[in-house]
Amino acid sequence: MFKKSMDKRWIRTSLLLSAVMIAVPTVNFVVAETLATKVPAAEVHKPLVLPDRVIMTWKGDTATTQAVTWRTDASVTTPQAQIAVAGDNSDFADHAVTVPAENTSEVATYLGYAEKYHSVNFQDLLPETQYLYRVGDGVNWTEWFEFTTASKEAKPFSFIYVGDAQNNILEHWSRVIRNAYSDLPEASFIVHAGDLVNQGDADDQWGEWFKAGGWLNGMVPSIPTPGNHEYSRISQHTPAGLTPYWRPTFALPENGPNEAVFKENVYYIDYQGMRIVSLDTNLRGENLDKQAVWLDQTLANNPNRWTVLTFHHPIFSSAEGRDNAEVRNKLLPIIQKYNVDLVLQGHDHTYARGQVMNRQSGQKVVAPDSTTVFVNSVSGPKMYESSSAVWDKNGAQVDKALQNTQLYQLVHVDGDVLRYDARTATGKPFDAFEIRKLPNGKKQMIETMK
Ligand SMILES: [Fe+2]
Ligand SMILES: [Fe+2]
Repeated sequence: MFKKSMDKRWIRTSLLLSAVMIAVPTVNFVVAETLATKVPAAEVHKPLVLPDRVIMTWKGDTATTQAVTWRTDASVTTPQAQIAVAGDNSDFADHAVTVPAENTSEVATYLGYAEKYHSVNFQDLLPETQYLYRVGDGVNWTEWFEFTTASKEAKPFSFIYVGDAQNNILEHWSRVIRNAYSDLPEASFIVHAGDLVNQGDADDQWGEWFKAGGWLNGMVPSIPTPGNHEYSRISQHTPAGLTPYWRPTFALPENGPNEAVFKENVYYIDYQGMRIVSLDTNLRGENLDKQAVWLDQTLANNPNRWTVLTFHHPIFSSAEGRDNAEVRNKLLPIIQKYNVDLVLQGHDHTYARGQVMNRQSGQKVVAPDSTTVFVNSVSGPKMYESSSAVWDKNGAQVDKALQNTQLYQLVHVDGDVLRYDARTATGKPFDAFEIRKLPNGKKQMIETMK
């Protein structure tokens, strides 16, 4: 009897203790949540004299030039960079050449502070050579960042492609871009297919984008194309059009159609046997006609074995209720005329990969003369519902689709073979294919996912 009541008391006490042990962290959490204050965005993202938001891009020849951009507060008046051929001890710094910034743009932010973006374009570099550079004001410097110039010849290389980052960028996109880099640290560049941020003039969103990529942006050049959200504003004081951050932030080629509206959003870059072309599909009507004419000329005079296009709005949408008929009608004939290899797009917050069907046979052609592969992808957390309706209605076929999943893509180019490898945010292989250029001038596309 006594034992029984002791047992009962022990059980009661244990239950009580367990309840307390479980409850304690909860109570603490609630208290902490009540007492904690969110650090304002204007504090988190305000610029300093010290550089941040360092990013490499190209303005010119990928074998002999390298552009770099960085941000400081508005007080910096002597922006400059240093560059040297890389070495295995710190002596390389003795041979560093100082290059003054060639462009500085002051941007007024909606968070109440002003900031400056500075850029240099290192010139006369040696091809296939490792360099180290840093940026600063002559006194305050970043760490030395490493990069390697491209070869002048067609040689094997790899790159990363990501769709829209756009929302909760630091919270939910950072792991995707970091996993992509971890899987492919030798990537020669990163293609961003638009909607990098949600509102193109939101300094905190750009701050998140740069923090998510961190030092990767200083080591792996970016090839960005603008999405509709780079045309979207958080402040009524920001003028309409492409975000005033675009051109100060990304030093890109000015080889597009010769008008201000196309400057650094419509361009091409040649890299070791591949031409990669960025179009701005936000620009419609006659501004899309002009891009189509320019694209035709740019592909007609393309000495490269491989051709990749990137723009934001898909030729074939993969999200319920969306369609970009004007983009398709104006660009698809040129894409088919030049048998473009790969079209890398965003916007639909789903994954879809497919091709135009062989209309003569009515059959999907997989080999031996298949044509362009179209991909829509998403890397950030915003998700839409998948639909293949636009593909089906327009003579195309989705071969692989996915929704509600963040992804990154790795592309390898080696001679006559391009290998494509899509992975989910956690690194699981999801989609893979090869495009092979055959001796008879045709192409073969083979799905290689096990
Ligand atoms: Fe988007
Ligand atoms: Fe979009």
